[in-house]
Amino acid sequence: MAVRHFLTLADLTAAELHTLIRRAIELKTMLRAGERYEPLKNKVLALIFEKSSTRTRVSFESAVIQFGGGSIFLSPQDTQLGRGEPVEDTARVLSRMVDAIVVRTFAHEKLERFAGHSQVPVINALTDTYHPCQLLADIQTYVEQRGDIKGKTVAWVGDGNNMCHSYIEAARLFEFNLRIASPPGYDPARALLKAGAKNSKLVRDPREAVKDADLVVTDVWASMGQEQEQDTRARDFADYQVNAKLMALAKPDALFMHCLPAHRGEEVSAEVIDGPHSVVWDEAENRLHAQKALLEFLLT
Ligand code: CP
Ligand code: NVA
Repeated sequence: MAVRHFLTLADLTAAELHTLIRRAIELKTMLRAGERYEPLKNKVLALIFEKSSTRTRVSFESAVIQFGGGSIFLSPQDTQLGRGEPVEDTARVLSRMVDAIVVRTFAHEKLERFAGHSQVPVINALTDTYHPCQLLADIQTYVEQRGDIKGKTVAWVGDGNNMCHSYIEAARLFEFNLRIASPPGYDPARALLKAGAKNSKLVRDPREAVKDADLVVTDVWASMGQEQEQDTRARDFADYQVNAKLMALAKPDALFMHCLPAHRGEEVSAEVIDGPHSVVWDEAENRLHAQKALLEFLLT
């Protein structure tokens, strides 16, 4: 059987994704009950991270330890990747030694080349184009708090970035309606928007996106690798802050999510991220549970 990778949400069917979310909730309950469950005993997870990470790294490493296995963290500076060894060769070698490989990198195409030469599952821990693992946690969090997300309205306010792209895919697969408000010049990829047109639309105006929404989501204005654009972006995104005034347009029980790290006073005000609508800490914790469900799905 061909090896399954998780490079985007679309690598799983809608039915598989729904099962995975249910399983994540179950695994969370089991962990809280102190139940020992070690389906990955003696399995090894390698993590190659070419960008910084707190949540993704710690959640994957904790996940595999709790599951009875072990992990090896590889930064490019310490491996031959950083000295120019081709990703194809690295993938061939690592996949003969470990059971799954988690990769955070820049170009999505590089991750695809890596996966194309790996005999073991490769998981996208974020690329410039997608962040599918975060979506597993976001959907789990919504389901826990409010039930099924199908038919609900989600507002994306901000950059048409990797997170926005994964939201477009999630809208199609989980059948919710996504309204995207991004400033001109920062739209999500046109092809993705076209493919997801049934569930996602670009509305531009944050107020229109957020009106009566069930969930409001934002992300940093400058992603990793765009640090030098910070000042320009701060000007271009000035009207795109999720603050109490904007949040007041959403449904009274609307949730607020942010993948973190957040910049209070930029894309979100402190009163919103630290306020009653915000579920960002549960969202962050659920990275652990959702990725445990993913590892179990791919490896057992
Ligand atoms: N949300 C997220 O992926 O966080 P890290 O960059 O800390 O992994
Ligand atoms: N869009 C952000 C997400 C960080 C988790 C970035 O790529 O830096």
